[in-house]
Amino acid sequence: MDRWVGKVAVVTGASAGIGASTCVALANAGLTVVGLARRAELVDRLKEKITGSGAIHSKRCDVSKYEDVVGAFAWVEQALGGTDVLVNNAGVLIPGHITDVGDSKIDDASILSVIDTNFKGLVMCTRQAVASMKIRNFDGHIININSLAGHYVPFDSCFNVYSGTKHAVTAFSAALLNELADCHSRIKVTSISPGKVRTSMSRDTERGLEPADIADCIVYALSTPPNVNIYELGVCSVAEKKL
Ligand SMILES: NC(=O)c1ccc[n+]([C@@H]2O[C@H](COP(=O)([O-])OP(=O)(O)OC[C@H]3O[C@@H](n4cnc5c(N)ncnc54)[C@H](OP(=O)(O)O)[C@@H]3O)[C@@H](O)[C@H]2O)c1
Repeated sequence: MDRWVGKVAVVTGASAGIGASTCVALANAGLTVVGLARRAELVDRLKEKITGSGAIHSKRCDVSKYEDVVGAFAWVEQALGGTDVLVNNAGVLIPGHITDVGDSKIDDASILSVIDTNFKGLVMCTRQAVASMKIRNFDGHIININSLAGHYVPFDSCFNVYSGTKHAVTAFSAALLNELADCHSRIKVTSISPGKVRTSMSRDTERGLEPADIADCIVYALSTPPNVNIYELGVCSVAEKKL
């Protein structure tokens, strides 16, 4: 991890769960972390958990809003010199049926918020981060927090459009890798696909991993040599059944 000490990592969805653990893990590894979330005050509280040489800054940002994304990355550029690592972690799962066929239909706004947060926001943040890396000729790293539901469709119908957005993350991660390779870029792209993790999104206490386990995976992907890219990492508890 030595080559990342002092570098700038932007983590989306930093106020809770996997994103919060990731902010602390990266700051402990010596990075300057910018945690984006709507509840920026929760990101500020992570500062007291830092035991390493890095730092955490908070920035209020709703990744589903284009202007928020542009504003947040412009702030990183101006205040900290640019984005070296991006962890696209912000995500929502809103249970309910997609259509009138079921009896617990979710509203249009909820469906759009899942699509806009899990996919549109991830694409827009990625474009901002890669632009920052390219202008400085820096070989950074994009890490997308995907899901096993981005590779298989869970039988539980409450997942509705969530699984579709995560499949889109799988396709986008591959397309981005191909584009970067075509353009002779050495920027890395890693898709990390967790199974159940104990956060507000999934409270399965028996078969879930801890958020810190996913933060460890992120540190592992970052710590590979410059010529090695982990493009997909599936990770779940030994107790979790396969889909
Ligand atoms: N938990 C699991 O079992 C599991 C499994 C596979 C994949 N994942 C993925 O892991 C990622 C993190 O989930 P988690 O389990 O840690 O969930 P979580 O504890 O509910 O945290 C979600 C985070 O996303 C942020 N967020 C939500 N909407 C946002 C928006 N529009 N703009 C900015 N930030 C937003 C939240 O912050 P604010 O509310 O403050 O904005 C929060 O920090 C997600 O992409 C999820 O799909 C989770």
